Amino acid sequence: MYKMDQSQTPIFDSLMEYVNRDTIPFHVPGHKKGVGMDSKFKDFVGTNVLSIDVTVFKLVDSLHHPTGPIKKAMELAADAYGSDMAFISVNGTSGAIQAMILAVVKAGEKIIVPRNVHKSVTSGIILSGATPVFMQPEIDKNVGIAHGVTPETVEKTLKENPDAKAVLIINPTYYGVAADIKKIAEIVHSYNIPLIVDEAHGPHLGFIDELPMSAMQAGADMCAQSTHKIIGSMTQSSFLQVRGERIDINRVQQIMNLLQTTSPSYVLMASLDVARMQVATKGKELLNYAISLANYAREEINKIPGLYCFGKDILGNPGVYALDPTKITITCKGLGLTGYELDQILANDYHIQVEMSDLYNVLAVGSFGDTKESIGKLIEALKEISKKYYGTKPVIGEAIDIPSIPKRVLTPREAFYGKTKCVKLDDSIGKVSAEFLLAYPPGIPIVCPGEIITHEIIDYVKVLKEANLYVQGTEDPEVETIKVVEID
Ligand SMILES: Cc1ncc(COP(=O)(O)O)c(C=O)c1O
Repeated sequence: MYKMDQSQTPIFDSLMEYVNRDTIPFHVPGHKKGVGMDSKFKDFVGTNVLSIDVTVFKLVDSLHHPTGPIKKAMELAADAYGSDMAFISVNGTSGAIQAMILAVVKAGEKIIVPRNVHKSVTSGIILSGATPVFMQPEIDKNVGIAHGVTPETVEKTLKENPDAKAVLIINPTYYGVAADIKKIAEIVHSYNIPLIVDEAHGPHLGFIDELPMSAMQAGADMCAQSTHKIIGSMTQSSFLQVRGERIDINRVQQIMNLLQTTSPSYVLMASLDVARMQVATKGKELLNYAISLANYAREEINKIPGLYCFGKDILGNPGVYALDPTKITITCKGLGLTGYELDQILANDYHIQVEMSDLYNVLAVGSFGDTKESIGKLIEALKEISKKYYGTKPVIGEAIDIPSIPKRVLTPREAFYGKTKCVKLDDSIGKVSAEFLLAYPPGIPIVCPGEIITHEIIDYVKVLKEANLYVQGTEDPEVETIKVVEID
């Protein structure tokens, strides 16, 4: 139950007051409610949005030193999500993740993270100078994707690294798969260190029982949530939820101030404020609708020859503790099409744009923005595509085992700032990589900056290339060469 009246929208209300006062703007932005803006853009977006594109002043409050409506909006968000403080990020969850990492580790300190982290985690590690200790997530070779890490993996890694200062996990993955986060939180806390969570794909968790448990419900210490990805706020607006037991909340504010612009968009912040109100007051009913539409889509897609859409059937598999059914992962290898090909056919022939695709799958993100009609169009398009391709092309084979995590001799930051040179792949064996090499599937780095490139890794890259699978991450798009650190 909430302690505050969640129907309030203090940031949006302060902007409405500014508009209703008919304020004469002698402040930035220079377009001044759109008057000074070219009509090419203004005529399309309309003047309402421009009239609330303001800057820091008392009526609308300051993100860096909140004392008024922004402070109230943060308190409301903390109340809605069950944290002690909710910070607003106008640099998406990437910015919030960097702040989380800077709040828990300093240069040289260890942080335990899954190998399949988003690049914002790596940038947080580079910025902090911390030393990553990687955990291998569970890999599902059938659908070619990485799921969560198991509590056993977390426990083993902590036993081997009792000096680690924090653990980060993903809840849930891009594909909606959640690990046993409650158990993981208990294990991490038994070492008296914080559990921080990349909850980019989970700002809707915790508002309905049918979804996996949220990081805050599980007792995590911090989580970064892309409110803009899954619920109703605008792109770039995210929350960073913090619990005060193991984390210094004032220091998190300082770190957010260090990283964020002094000109945050009030349009974004107001949309975040209203999105929190929406999910807190109507989330259950809206999410129920989104889940039933997505489950209907899953059922129908599973009837289409050559397509597969995982659901409850994979629960209990390694790294799959719970599932977010609104994520619709369509595995299309049975059609002999790669996910990239299906993505392009949907976009070009049907004007349906999916969220992302990999070798085996396309990911359609469901939300309470879907309608019966939009879901119906997706199903009809997939039926037509199946009719055209099913049985005409060889089925794509299973993912190959990835090499073991190589030895690390430099921190990612040392490798990032080190003196580097470009060498042919074969000449890189035994050298320290200054770049990533990512294998698709399952989109996991096989080498990270600071790690020693092995024979096994280079052989694996060759196998992937021969099988027409994907390797990426190097500056050289063909992955013929790789940047290595020159060590004197
Ligand atoms: C797992 C994960 N974490 C973090 C991010 C970063 O979120 P944002 O785009 O809000 O910066 C993403 C973005 O796709 C993501 O997939």
